[in-house]
Amino acid sequence: MNLQQAARDHLWMHFTRMGGYQSAEVPIIVRGDGCYLEDANGKRYLDALAGLFSVNLGYGFGEEMGQAALAQMKELPFYTNWSYAHPRAIELASELASLAPGDLNRAFFVSGGSEAVESAWKLARQYYLARGSKRVPAGETRHDERVGSPAPRRYKAIARQIAYHGTTMGALSINGIPALKETFEPLVPEVRHVKNTNRYHRPPGETEAEFTAMLLEDLEEAVLAMGPETVCLVHMEPVQNAGGAFTPPEGYWQGVRAICDRYDILLSADEVITAFGRLGHWFASERYDIRPDIVCCAKGLSSSYASIGAVLVTDRVMEPFLEGSAMYSHGITFGGHPVQAAVALKNIEIMKREGIMERVLANEGAFRSTLEQLLELPIVGDVRGTGYFYAIELVKDKETRETFSDEECESLLRGYLSGALFERGLICRADDRGDPVIQISPPLVAGQAEFDEMTGILGAVLAEAGRRMQAR
Ligand SMILES: Cc1ncc(COP(=O)(O)O)c(C=O)c1O
Repeated sequence: MNLQQAARDHLWMHFTRMGGYQSAEVPIIVRGDGCYLEDANGKRYLDALAGLFSVNLGYGFGEEMGQAALAQMKELPFYTNWSYAHPRAIELASELASLAPGDLNRAFFVSGGSEAVESAWKLARQYYLARGSKRVPAGETRHDERVGSPAPRRYKAIARQIAYHGTTMGALSINGIPALKETFEPLVPEVRHVKNTNRYHRPPGETEAEFTAMLLEDLEEAVLAMGPETVCLVHMEPVQNAGGAFTPPEGYWQGVRAICDRYDILLSADEVITAFGRLGHWFASERYDIRPDIVCCAKGLSSSYASIGAVLVTDRVMEPFLEGSAMYSHGITFGGHPVQAAVALKNIEIMKREGIMERVLANEGAFRSTLEQLLELPIVGDVRGTGYFYAIELVKDKETRETFSDEECESLLRGYLSGALFERGLICRADDRGDPVIQISPPLVAGQAEFDEMTGILGAVLAEAGRRMQAR
């Protein structure tokens, strides 16, 4: 088969300007090993994005993962989690309960990140109904429940500006990137987006404490404006990806938790990217002591060797669903698929054996300082992130932190950088959903040799990008 022609004629690639490939060559990736990929022409690439922030173990464990999948296919290729259990789903749920912080003891399986987010919001909506159907006894007061009367419906969600949370209608509504949403409006009511933790463009004299206070004030104002008794979910990533690896300021998560507690709102940590080692912990909620009620995970759960995600919930969230005839009215055929669950179990086993968490924690300092060499370039304004999760923000003027216009971004990112990096054998993402950034998120098996290689390529390409932008 002529793969090029067949791709042009039949494949619809996601988030891709297909028209561009009527004349240009479709990039076809044919194999992977460790941190490297190879295309159909035999050219090698360092994958500094780990697929889509997701191949946490890298590409070198196909044999072991494949054996786990094969064994499961022979034993039981499929059965469902609708009303039934099977051994791999049970074992994986138990494993996740033991790895997740606190009493996140229950797993509801899905097929990916968007479904996890979708399921978290639906769950939060139903949680208050399930819990609220019990009338509050006299003498006991809850914020939203008047004695003797049913609680008002809680259905609204709060997320952050520029945050990406997926593409299905509910997840898209939670998404904070207007350009992705406008085409599909009206979306699912009702979501508000509060300020994210982008520190780089804050006033220079602002202290960390002032920054945190401003963010928390903004969140609380949104809760109050929406009507606290109608909000069921605050949904945020431990470190926000879109916009470029926004880490939380000191005290931020403790403040968010306190606001959720004050207004009796469920806090959901979107760990679709951050879980399973990206930040050197099984869950980033542990690193930042977030204490979420709900955790959404997917990608790294199987290092993307399988399409599986999970929604983890605490004992408190589960409680009303264990009573009487209560049932979470939601299900997905492939949620907890035995072959996918077997692969996820194998992934966790390999991560433990290879000491992936320890490796990321041991290497993150060296990774950061290697990337920070790029700060010497005039076009590099900021290098930020943590663990194996970084963003490099590109600026027009380093002194003033002035960013590029939309038209300049188009020419810088899509007109030059994406192609030039790929040409030189580096896969990473040039993104301007917020300000222009290069996102770096390599497989967790990467070491100093890969840090040096990616920094070398980035340095050469960004230096040339800077010259081109100046010459315009
Ligand atoms: C934080 C976050 N949430 C949700 C999603 C959606 O995941 P999926 O693409 O598997 O549906 C993503 C995908 O990148 C993500 O980064």
